[in-house]
Amino acid sequence: LIAGPSSMVMFGVTGDLARKKLLPAIYDLTHRGLLPPSFGLVGFGRRDWTDEDFQEYVRTSVSEHARTPFTDSVFEQLRGGLRFVTGEFDDKAAFDRLTEVVSELDATRGTGGNHAFYLSIPPSAFPQVCSQLADSGLNTPRDGSWRRVVIEKPFGHDLESARELNDVVEKVFRPEDVFRIDHYLGKETVQNILALRFANQMFEPVWNATYVDHVQITMAEDIGIGSRAGYYDGIGTARDVIQNHLLQLLALTAMEEPVSFRASDLRAEKEKVLSAVELPEDLAAHTARGQYVGGWQGGEEVASYLEEDGIPADSTTETFAAIRLDIATRRWAGVPFYLRAGKRLGRRVTEIAVILKRAPFLPFRSTDTADLGQNAIVIRVQPDEGVTMRFGSKVPGTQMEVRDVTMDFAYGMNFTEESPEAYERLILDMLLGDPPLFPRQKEVELSWKILDPITEYWAENMKPAPYRPGSWGPDTAHEMLARDGRTWRRP
Ligand code: BG6
Repeated sequence: LIAGPSSMVMFGVTGDLARKKLLPAIYDLTHRGLLPPSFGLVGFGRRDWTDEDFQEYVRTSVSEHARTPFTDSVFEQLRGGLRFVTGEFDDKAAFDRLTEVVSELDATRGTGGNHAFYLSIPPSAFPQVCSQLADSGLNTPRDGSWRRVVIEKPFGHDLESARELNDVVEKVFRPEDVFRIDHYLGKETVQNILALRFANQMFEPVWNATYVDHVQITMAEDIGIGSRAGYYDGIGTARDVIQNHLLQLLALTAMEEPVSFRASDLRAEKEKVLSAVELPEDLAAHTARGQYVGGWQGGEEVASYLEEDGIPADSTTETFAAIRLDIATRRWAGVPFYLRAGKRLGRRVTEIAVILKRAPFLPFRSTDTADLGQNAIVIRVQPDEGVTMRFGSKVPGTQMEVRDVTMDFAYGMNFTEESPEAYERLILDMLLGDPPLFPRQKEVELSWKILDPITEYWAENMKPAPYRPGSWGPDTAHEMLARDGRTWRRP
C-alpha cells in the first residue's frame, strides 16, 4: 500500500527524534516507493531558515541516519516538497504563513488538502500549537480531504495530566484523527507476538496459568541518558518506558485473541487485559528503583547519573525500574508478570520470556537433571530479533542425563525481506489512516492508572538504589525476585 497525496508539517523538526528517526524514515519510505511524488514536508521552527537551508538540513540528516542508501534521484523527489516556516508557537503570523505554504503545496505539489501535523515537541507546547492550528483553520479538512495530528509518548506524566493533554488535542482534532505513537508497536518483532500466539496451534494451549510459572519482560539499554537530561530527569524510567512500551508488550503477551485485527477489536482486547492488571499490595517488596553510579562499562569510564550534564546533584530520578504485576483473569491468576527497564545495564536487549512450570514428575535421578532449568519461550524483540525455546534434552552418552538446550528462530536466517524501521511503518500507517498500531486514549489512561500508585509510593518512600554500569540493576531488583523464589534471566 502506498500513501496517497499528502503533506506532513513537523513541529520540533530540529530535535533529536526528527533528525535521527523521523526524517530518515520519510526518506526511506520515499526510497522504497511508499510515498508518492505528491508528498510535501514542512518544517516549522525558530531557526531563520530558507527552504534551501532546510533542504540541506534534511539532506544531512538522511545521509547520516537513513537505512536505505542515499541516492540523488530519491532525494530530489523528496526535496521538491520540502518547505520551512520560521516562527514561534505563539506567533499568529507564522501560522498564517504556514497556511499559505500548505495551500501552495496543495496547488503546486498536488498534496490534495491532506495534511498531518506531527508534534515532536514537549507536551507543554501542545496547547499553544493546537489552538493556533484551530485558529488558522488548519485542523479542518475540506472537500473529503483529511487532517491528522501525531503525538509522541509519554502522553502526560500521570493520569490527570494525560487527560488534560488529551482534552487539549481532542478539542481541535476528532479522536479518530489523533495518532499516538508508541514506536514499540511499529517494531516487527512486537507485531509478531500476535502472529506467534494466534497463527499457531503449539503456543496458545500452554499460554496460561496451568503451564506458565511467570513472565519476565526486560527492556535493557547499555547507554546512559546522553544529552536528554532536560527530558529525562523530570520523567525517570517508569514513565519513560514502562507506562508505554513495557505495558504494551504486556498487553500483547497477555491479551485474549481479538475477534479481528481491526483497530477497535485489537484495542478492546488490550484494554480488557490492562484493566485486569493488579498491583502488589506490598510495593516495597515487589518493586525496585535504581540509579546508575559511575564506573567502567565496555572498557570505557562512564559518569554516574548525578554527574551527567544538566542533572541536579541531588536528583532522585530512577534510571532503572522493576515492578511485579498480576493479572486477575482466569488465564493468568497466580502468574506474576515482572517488568524491568533501565539505562547503563549489561547490554542492549528487549525480550519477553514466558517461563513455564517444571514438569510435574521427572523419572530420572536428581543428579541426572542437575542442569535442568525451566522451559521457556523467549520472544527476542531486539537486537537479535527472533524467538528462542529452552527445553531439556538428553546429553549424548550412555547415561540418561538431561540438560537444557535452546532452539532459535532468527529473522536474519529465515527471511530475506528487510524489516521496516518502526517509524517508517508508523508514519506510513498514519498517512494511510490505518490505526491498529496506535494506542487510543483509553489504553493510555489505563496504563497511567497502573503506574500512578507506584510512582506516588516511590516519591514518598523509595529512593533509587545505586547500581554499577554494566550490571543488571540494583540489588533490590534481585531481592525482589528472590522473595518470590525466582531469579531474573541473564539475556
Ligand atoms: C524511547 C525512550 O521511547 O525509547 C528512550 O524515551 C529509549 O529513553 C528509547 O532510549 C529506546 O528505543 P529503542 O527503539 O532503541 O529500543
